[in-house]
Amino acid sequence: MQSPFAVLALLASVAVAHTHHFSAVPNTFPDISACLSQPSVYSCENTTRIENTCCSPTPGGLVLATQFWSTYTGLEKEGQLLPKGSWTIHGLWPDNCDGSYQQYCDPTRQYDPAPGVAGVANYTGPGVDTFILEFGRQDLLDYMNKYWINQGAPNKNFWAHEFSKHATCTSTFDVACYGPSYKKHQDVVNFYDAVIRAWSQYPTFDMLASFGIVPSNKTTYSLGQIQSVLQSQTGAVPYLGCVNNGTALSEVWYFSHVYGTEQYGTYKTLNSTTPSTCSETEPIWYYERTATSEHEVNN
Ligand SMILES: *[C@@H]1O[C@H](CO)[C@@H](O)[C@H](O)[C@H]1NC(C)=O
Ligand SMILES: *[C@@H]1O[C@H](CO)[C@@H](O)[C@H](O)[C@H]1NC(C)=O
Ligand SMILES: *[C@@H]1O[C@H](CO)[C@@H](O)[C@H](O)[C@H]1NC(C)=O
Ligand SMILES: *[C@@H]1O[C@H](CO)[C@@H](O)[C@H](O)[C@H]1NC(C)=O
Ligand SMILES: *[C@@H]1O[C@H](CO)[C@@H](O)[C@H](O)[C@H]1NC(C)=O
Repeated sequence: MQSPFAVLALLASVAVAHTHHFSAVPNTFPDISACLSQPSVYSCENTTRIENTCCSPTPGGLVLATQFWSTYTGLEKEGQLLPKGSWTIHGLWPDNCDGSYQQYCDPTRQYDPAPGVAGVANYTGPGVDTFILEFGRQDLLDYMNKYWINQGAPNKNFWAHEFSKHATCTSTFDVACYGPSYKKHQDVVNFYDAVIRAWSQYPTFDMLASFGIVPSNKTTYSLGQIQSVLQSQTGAVPYLGCVNNGTALSEVWYFSHVYGTEQYGTYKTLNSTTPSTCSETEPIWYYERTATSEHEVNN
C-alpha cells in the first residue's frame, strides 16, 4: 500500500504541472493573503483604523456603480452601437465616506488621452485595449465593447479615463497590492473585471422592464415610480440623473459600502447621498433609442 506521503507528493507534482501549464496567461488578481489577519468590515463602517488598505477601499469606501441610458453614440458609422435591452456601464467610483472624492491620484498610471484637468497631461501611448490583450483577455475586451460604450469618442478612451480618474484613487487597486510579482497593467485588467462584476449586480433595464417601465417615446413615468422599482430590488434608492431640465432619464448611480475588497467583496447597497436631477413633479421621459444606434448583443 502506498504511504499517505507518497500520495501527497504525487498530488503536489500534479499541482505543479497544472500551474505550469497555465503560466502563459499571467494573473490579474491582487494578493489578499495579508487580509486574513485584518478585521473585515464594510467600508466606511470601521470602528478602528483599517491598517491594510489593500483589503478595503480606503478612504474611498463609498463605492458608486454608475450607468448610462443614452440614445446614441455619435460613432454609429464606425460600428460603435448601444446594446439592445440594456443600459451601459459608466464606471466604479471611490467616493470618500462623506461624499467628497479624489481624482487622477497616480500620474504614473495616467492613460486618459484627454483628462481635461489642470496638471494632468494627455496620454498618447498605446490604448488600454492593448493592455487587456497582453493578458490574453479577448473575452473581457469583447464584453466591454458590448456594454461599456463611449459617446463621441472611441470606447477605449472612456475605459482609460475611468481607470486613471477613479481606480488610481481606489486603494484596493494600488500597485503595492499585487505584491512583488506585479506585472505592468495587471491592475488595469483587474479593475475592468471588477467594474463588470459590480455592474452585473444592477441590471437596471431588466429591473425597470419587469415592472412595465420600458423605453417609450409616447409614455412618461414619474421619478417616484422609477425610484420605488429600483428600491424594491436593491434595498435602496439610487441617484437618478436627468437631462433636458430634469425631464429625460440619462443615468443611475448605485451607492454601496463594500465588505472586503472592491474586486471580490460583497456590496451593500445604500440610499444615494446625492439629490436626483430629475424633476419630482414633471413627467420623466425614458426615451427609446434611435433604431440605428443599437444592436442585438448576446449574453
Ligand atoms: C477607518 O479606517 C481609516 C483608515 O485607516 C481611518 O482613517 C479611520 O479613522 C477609521 N475609522 C474609525 C472610526 O476608526
Ligand atoms: C489634450 O487633449 C484635448 C482634447 O483632445 C485637446 O483639446 C488639448 O489641446 C490637448 N492638450 C495638449 C496639451 O495637447
Ligand atoms: C425647468 O424646470 C423648472 C421646474 O419644472 C421650470 O420652472 C423651468 O421653467 C424650466 N426651465 C426651462 C428652461 O424649461
Ligand atoms: C432610503 O430612502 C427611502 C426612500 O426615501 C426611505 O424610505 C428609507 O428609509 C431610506 N433608508 C435609509 C436607511 O435611510
Ligand atoms: C425617441 O426620442 C428620442 C429623443 O427625441 C430620439 O432621439 C429617438 O430617436 C426616438 N426613438 C425612436 C425609435 O423614435
